[in-house]
Amino acid sequence: MLNIGIAGLGVVGAEVAKLLLNRSASFADKAGQELCITAVSARSRGKDRGFPLDTIAFVENPVELAERDDVDLVVELMGGSEGPALQLVTNALKAGKSVVTANKAMIAHHGQALAQIAEESGAALMFEAAVAGGIPALKTLREGLSANDIVRVSGILNGTCNYILSEMSETGRDFESVLKEAQDKGYAEADPTFDVDGIDAAHKLAILSALAFGHQVNLSDVDIHGIRPITDIDIAYAAELGYTIKLLGIAAKGQKPSVKPCLLPSHSQLAKISGALNAVEFDADPVQSVICVGPGAGAGPTASAVLADIIDIATSRGGLPFGKPTDRLSSASTTNTDGGYLRYYIRLKVEDRPGVLSDITSVLRDEDISVASMLQKGQSADAPVSLVLTTHHTTQSAVLNAVAKMQEMDILFGAPLALAILDAEAS
Ligand SMILES: NC(=O)c1ccc[n+]([C@@H]2O[C@H](COP(=O)([O-])OP(=O)(O)OC[C@H]3O[C@@H](n4cnc5c(N)ncnc54)[C@H](OP(=O)(O)O)[C@@H]3O)[C@@H](O)[C@H]2O)c1
Repeated sequence: MLNIGIAGLGVVGAEVAKLLLNRSASFADKAGQELCITAVSARSRGKDRGFPLDTIAFVENPVELAERDDVDLVVELMGGSEGPALQLVTNALKAGKSVVTANKAMIAHHGQALAQIAEESGAALMFEAAVAGGIPALKTLREGLSANDIVRVSGILNGTCNYILSEMSETGRDFESVLKEAQDKGYAEADPTFDVDGIDAAHKLAILSALAFGHQVNLSDVDIHGIRPITDIDIAYAAELGYTIKLLGIAAKGQKPSVKPCLLPSHSQLAKISGALNAVEFDADPVQSVICVGPGAGAGPTASAVLADIIDIATSRGGLPFGKPTDRLSSASTTNTDGGYLRYYIRLKVEDRPGVLSDITSVLRDEDISVASMLQKGQSADAPVSLVLTTHHTTQSAVLNAVAKMQEMDILFGAPLALAILDAEAS
């Protein structure tokens, strides 16, 4: 029998507990032993969790689960990168108890140190639910693609951002009104910073990248941009050009991992992933391209990933947290590059007067950037107009230099936007 202690009985924890109780016979078959919840912890003892707690010990301090003799496996589902979650997981691993967690923030910040403790004590540390919720992204890398040389991992890793961008695309509404509706419907947090500024996706990408390329897990390696600067005008212009804007996490061999909005051809598979779904694409040798699509959050999908980890540990399929010993993990590339030459989408708000266009084109010429197309919407002597350029293939640094120079000139209103156009990369 495997005795399980669960810390956190919220959206995910309560679902994991209910499934463990309701499907005990089926899980016992799959795990080769009974999976028994012996102790739980949450902030409020009296709250109805939707399952009986009378035969299960309730501990006020979750960190105590690490010390209990009746707990062999700790399941951490409280959240927070520091505090009790980190203390519990650290103590449990030090005590040789295996840990399953869905806590992407904790793994992105402390995964390496925790993996080292796990290695030393021989315990397993598993976190499938931390990346893309119900999609078995880490298991795909660890198991299904284990014989492959991973070239690139890219994906839609944040359901809230994908929901907002999809709604903007389908309804023509602006970012603020779609965000407000997403908050009202419970798809976005009251404080949406982690999601819309790309931090949540960066946590997941740091973990994916570590497993894919044997990198150290380091959030500060990730170049992070969110979706706040994307306007309804960008969505409409991109559509006119045959593209869809998606927030993508991209990690490629020899390239700094990044989370940023990009233009994908509207016919590509990732461009068609709409709403709150997540998707992860693996480009690998020899398999070529594999895409996994599914729900990236929610009680059922996240519990599915947590339970798969529990079954793996019960059947001794845990393995090393990042696929190789921590002292053999290398540093990620720090070169800030989009992987060579790409086309770019540049949106500027400019005064509609003679001479402005030649100022802009001379900046682009100085940076050796050639323009592929230009669109201008609106015409008014008083109000600024939006000007959209697409470039031929160039480097990210040339585009960033050009945009910085334009900002220094007195011709722009507001911040310009430059997004990579991923033509060849998209399936
Ligand atoms: N929700 C998702 O769709 C999803 C998807 C992927 C990953 N995750 C990750 O899963 C984890 C849990 O998320 P969630 O959505 O289930 O969170 P949640 O609904 O807010 O639940 C958190 C649980 O932790 C308990 N808790 C918090 N602080 C505690 C403390 N100091 N001592 C004891 N118990 C404490 C809470 O107790 P009370 O109930 O008494 O307040 C609650 O039961 C997080 O790391 C999150 O990032 C969630």
